Amino acid sequence: MKHDEKTLYERIGGELTIFRLVDVFYHKVAQDDALRAIFPQDLSTGKYWQFLFLVQYWGGDTRYSEQRGHPRLRMRHMPYAITPALRDKWVQYMFEAIDEVGIAEPDRSTMRDYFSSGASFMVNRHSEGAE
Ligand code: HEM
Repeated sequence: MKHDEKTLYERIGGELTIFRLVDVFYHKVAQDDALRAIFPQDLSTGKYWQFLFLVQYWGGDTRYSEQRGHPRLRMRHMPYAITPALRDKWVQYMFEAIDEVGIAEPDRSTMRDYFSSGASFMVNRHSEGAE
C-alpha cells in the first residue's frame, strides 16, 4: 500500500497510539488541580470511553457506539462546568500529548484542528462561578 493510501488511523499507529495519547493526556489532567476538579473522583471510566470514542472517531472500530450509543458529546459534557479557561487547558494538554506520542504532520494538524474546535463546542459555562 502506498503511503498516501493509508488512513490517518493507520498512519498514526491505530489504537495503540490512541491508547497512549489518552493515557498521556489523562496524566496531565490528573496533575492540574483546576481541571481535575471538574472530573469525577474515579477517572478510569471516562478514560475508557474517551479511548473508545477516539478510536471510533479517527477511523477504528465502533465499540464506542455499540457500547455507549450515539456520542451526543455536548450533552454528555453538560454536567461538568467547562469554562473557556478550562477548555484552553484541556486543549493545551491534548496538544502536548499529540506531540509526546509522536504524531507527525499532516495528522498532527488534523487532530489539533478537531480537538481545538471540538473543545470550544463543549464550553458550557462562561464565567468561573462563585467559588
Ligand atoms: C474535542 C473535544 C472533546 C472530546 C472529543 C471529548 C470526548 C469525551 C468523551 C468521549 C467522553 C466520555 C463520554 C461518555 O461518557 O461516553 C468525555 C467525558 C468528559 N469530558 Fe470530554 N471531550 C472533549 C472536550 C472536553 C473538554 C474541553 C473538557 C473540559 C475542559 C472535557 C471534560 C470532560 C469530562 C469532565 C468528562 C467526564 C469524564 C468522566 O465521566 O469520567 N472534555 N469527553
